[in-house]
Amino acid sequence: MRILGIETSCDETAAAVVDDTGHVASSAVASQARVHAAYRGVVPELASRCHIEYMLPTIHTALDLAGIGRDGAGIDALAVTRGPGLVGSLLVGLETAKALAWAWGKPLIAVHHTHGHLASVFCHLPEGQTRVLDIPPEAETQHTARHARWRDENPSATCRPAHIEGAPAFDYPYLGLVVSGGHSSLVEVRAPASIESLGETLDDAPGEAYDKVARFLGLPYPGGPEIDRLAAEGDPEAFDFPRPILHSHGFDFSFSGLKTAVIQAIDEIGGAQAIHDSENALRDVCASFQAAVVDVLLAKARRALDKRDLGRLAVVGGVACNRGLRAEAARRFPHAHLLFPPSALCTDNAAMIAQAAHALEPLDPGQALALDARAGWRLGDAVAS
Ligand code: KG4
Ligand code: ZN
Repeated sequence: MRILGIETSCDETAAAVVDDTGHVASSAVASQARVHAAYRGVVPELASRCHIEYMLPTIHTALDLAGIGRDGAGIDALAVTRGPGLVGSLLVGLETAKALAWAWGKPLIAVHHTHGHLASVFCHLPEGQTRVLDIPPEAETQHTARHARWRDENPSATCRPAHIEGAPAFDYPYLGLVVSGGHSSLVEVRAPASIESLGETLDDAPGEAYDKVARFLGLPYPGGPEIDRLAAEGDPEAFDFPRPILHSHGFDFSFSGLKTAVIQAIDEIGGAQAIHDSENALRDVCASFQAAVVDVLLAKARRALDKRDLGRLAVVGGVACNRGLRAEAARRFPHAHLLFPPSALCTDNAAMIAQAAHALEPLDPGQALALDARAGWRLGDAVAS
C-alpha cells in the first residue's frame, strides 16, 4: 500500500510518498519561511497564496522522485492534513487532495496534524529522497513555481530516527512529547490509531514562545533555530527565568508567562539593541530561556513516563530539532528508549501525514468530497483514545 501524503497546515507546502513499512520513497517541502521572515511571523493570506502556487509542483516533485507517474497510477490512496492549522492554508491541500482523489478514483484519508507528527517516528527516510525549496520573498525576484529550483536535502547520518545505537526498533506503547510552533502536548500512544491526550499547552506552544522571544530580540523568523544556535554559547544560569506550572496543572504546559518574563528582562537590560551591543547578554538570555523551556518539557515528560509506567519517549515536532533539548533529554533519560526523528521529519512534512494515514479509515472519492477543513480540530476527536 503506497500513499501520497499532502500537508499545507501552516507555511510549508509538502507532498510525500510512503509505503506501509514506513519507507519514505520521496518527501518534497516548499518552505515559505523566507516569505514570512520580513513580517517576523506567518501572514495567513500570503501562506494561502504560496500554497496555491506551489501545491502542484510539490506533488509532481514527490511523484517524480518516487519514480511514480504523474497520473497517480502508482499510488493506492491519498492522505491529507484536515486540521488543525490556518484554515486558508488547510483548504488548499484539502481541496487539491479531494480533486486528485476524484480524478484518479483513489480513496482519501483525512489526518490530524499532531497524529502525523507522532507517526513520524516510524518513517525511514533514505538519503537523497528529499527535495527542499526555499520560496524567496516576492520582492526578491519575480519568482514563480515554474522557475523554482529544488535542492537535494541530504540529511546525512540523521536520515533515520535518532535512537540509541543498538537499541531495538521503536514500538508501542510510547509517550509522545509533541513540541511545535502551533501545538504542544503529552500523549500516550498505544497503537497507530489509539492515542490518549494527557496534557497540552494552556496558552503558547513552545515553538511559538521561541518565535515571539526571537521577534522581540530582533532575530530572524523562525526564531527557534536562531535561539538554539545562540543558546549553545550562552550561560543557562545567567537569568533565573520562571518554570511555569512546573508543579501544578498535571501534564499541561504554559509558556506565555515565561515569554513575558524574558521580554521584561530584555527591557530591563535596555531593549534588544542594548542586548545585541553586549558581548554575552544575547547568548545568555537565549541560553537561560531555552533552559527553562527544556526543564519544563522534560520534567513533565519524566512524570508522565513514571505515572504511565512507560519505557519509551518520542519527541516530535519542529522544536524537537533543538540541540539543547536533544542533549538534555539524553542526559535525563539514560534508561528510557528515547527517540528523536531526523530534523527533516520534525518540521512540517507530508511523509508523517502519509505514515499516520496507514492506520486510518479511507473514504471513497465520493464521500471525500464532503470533507471540510477543521482549523481547531482536537486530537481526541480525530483518533480514538
Ligand atoms: O512542527 P513545525 O514545523 O510546525 C508546526 O506544526 O507548528 O514547527 C515549527 C516550529 C517553529 O516555531 C520553529 O521556531 C521551531 O519549530 N523550531 C525550533 C527549532 N527548529 C524549529 N525551535 C527550537 N529549536 C530549534 N532548533
Ligand atoms: Zn507541525
